[in-house]
Amino acid sequence: MSVFLVEHPLVHDALVTLRDAATPPELFRRMAVRISLLLAAEATRDLPATAVTVTTPLGPADGRKVSTDVVVVPVLRAGLGMLDAVLELIPYARVGHIGLQRDEITAVASQYYAKLPTRLDRSVVVMIDPMLATGGSAVAALDLLMRAGSHDIRMICIVAAPEGVRLVEQHHPEVRIYTPAIDRELNAHKFIVPGLGDFGDRLYGTF
Ligand code: PRP
Ligand code: URA
Repeated sequence: MSVFLVEHPLVHDALVTLRDAATPPELFRRMAVRISLLLAAEATRDLPATAVTVTTPLGPADGRKVSTDVVVVPVLRAGLGMLDAVLELIPYARVGHIGLQRDEITAVASQYYAKLPTRLDRSVVVMIDPMLATGGSAVAALDLLMRAGSHDIRMICIVAAPEGVRLVEQHHPEVRIYTPAIDRELNAHKFIVPGLGDFGDRLYGTF
């Protein structure tokens, strides 16, 4: 199984606000942060940790500290709306950026930017892109990460379409996808239905 459906009620509470066409950019941004934080917590449940002992004011206490390098990779531009939330959870994470833009007519994604940290082979990579529609952007980004040496990649998205999930599973079956929703279908313009519209435009008010 490569898809993990996140059922947390707070995730779904934020998702309905994101979906609502009446939600203004300011609230949309806040909900994007809230849902991303919760999804990131799910996607990092199994991060390697080592046993440590600290001294509380009353004596020694055993605990665990995350013992792996983590790299967060937002897919520009919409993925940037999720980045601060993930860094709030994992402040020591390194950050890579991948810029991909879907053509408005064909919906085919082309890459316009990429800057990745070194030694991705030693890192857990958390790729963040709120929308998984045709899957073209996700597969292009995952191809790039694999070529750069990544082999432990989790992808977080806020709304997915069945077509996108299938494409990622076909090309990258080892990548785990964390999402609260796999919606019904894509429309003729390759937008997710019912979805939430254009995430980047709603985040930044570019409509
Ligand atoms: C959106 C979204 C994904 C992509 C998903 O980005 O953030 O990256 O579409 O669609 P796909 O699965 O069909 O490739 P968009 O290209 O609209 O760019 P933006 O983030 O700059 O708004
Ligand atoms: N990108 C979006 O922002 N929304 C969609 O429905 C599909 C791609």
